Amino acid sequence: VTPHEHGLAAVGADLDHLPAAMRGLDELALATTAEVLRRAGLFRPGVRHTAEQVLDRLRVASRHRWIVHGWLRALVEEHLLRRDPATGLLHDLSPTTPAARVRADVPRLCARLGYPPAVSAFFLAAAERLPSLLRDEVSAQSLLFDAGDTATADGVYRGNVVNTYLNAVAAAVAAERLPTSRRARVLEVGAGVGGTALPLLAALRDRDLEYVFTDVSRFFLDGARDALGEDRRVRFALLDVNDAAAATPAPDADLVVAANVLHNAVDVRDVLRRVRSWLRPGGALVLVESGRELRQASVSMQFLMSPAPGARPAGDGDLRAGQNRVFLTRDEWTAELHEAGLHVRTSLPPTGHPLDALGQFAVIAERTTSHPNRS
Ligand SMILES: C[S@@+](CC[C@H](N)C(=O)[O-])C[C@H]1O[C@@H](n2cnc3c(N)ncnc32)[C@H](O)[C@@H]1O
Repeated sequence: VTPHEHGLAAVGADLDHLPAAMRGLDELALATTAEVLRRAGLFRPGVRHTAEQVLDRLRVASRHRWIVHGWLRALVEEHLLRRDPATGLLHDLSPTTPAARVRADVPRLCARLGYPPAVSAFFLAAAERLPSLLRDEVSAQSLLFDAGDTATADGVYRGNVVNTYLNAVAAAVAAERLPTSRRARVLEVGAGVGGTALPLLAALRDRDLEYVFTDVSRFFLDGARDALGEDRRVRFALLDVNDAAAATPAPDADLVVAANVLHNAVDVRDVLRRVRSWLRPGGALVLVESGRELRQASVSMQFLMSPAPGARPAGDGDLRAGQNRVFLTRDEWTAELHEAGLHVRTSLPPTGHPLDALGQFAVIAERTTSHPNRS
């Protein structure tokens, strides 16, 4: 059984409806952003604006300005807004489906994608509070972790269709690659609410294993200690992947797991070289990422990705600099991994598969023995 077949077995056969459900959530994002712009009095007939004028009118906090640049880019790409090629001026915002009508469909779309009701409630709460989120009067963290509750985040990273598939892929790869003749060592970075750690540890329950669960934030380590503290295979440590001076809490790892975290790299090449140095030769990185800016995320999860005031934004030192985006495409990851001396062995789901429409993928890249750049 290949990792892909293992992943498919975890999600069942009925996947053809996924692209349409995802598109439905995209439409929520487009309708909602168009509504926010219109309600702010922007794009009245015959009026042209620069992007900066739009941002100023919405009084967007400086750390969130990249998000609105993304909205404008998306509306132009979807032919809902015109951008004058010579001047860059924006105009003629087309009518969209009324946002209220699109919102009514969100619980059904979320259910089709395997998200629990808490996730659809989060998407709707964020959509309704966009002007306040933009001005930093409300934080996305407060909507996602309502009174310290991680149920919504659990549903975002685990249990839904695409993450169930990707976690099953990761578990199959781990089972196949981890040594059985000695204790295997797994280092997870940005392990967060354990969206990947929990299913991985369950799938590897019979294995002699040391699992080093790390995150940049104590909030997540405390939560993980509650959920996993009883499992004697697990150790916990603080680790910031951007910290060049950080010593790894798990040298010579057989596997490094990084699920939805490495896009936080300030310089992705730097971080991948660091990850490589934490692996033993022949060890592998399991990387889970989104390969594009999801329209839905631009009205919800992206607010969690804005840098803290004064901090360097993700991508500031790499190929994303100045582009108002956080994600690298799958091809860009493949090239960066290669550059760092990590050779891609598996990349799933296959492009064009219905699961691919959900935007996330897993790449398994092996530490080649040769020097980075010469691999
Ligand atoms: C989108 S969440 C994913 C959580 C987890 N991997 C999962 O799938 O459930 C991203 C996680 O990365 C962590 N993170 C963000 N920046 C980081 C950094 N520079 N180094 C390590 N972890 C980081 C966050 O605290 C958060 O827990």
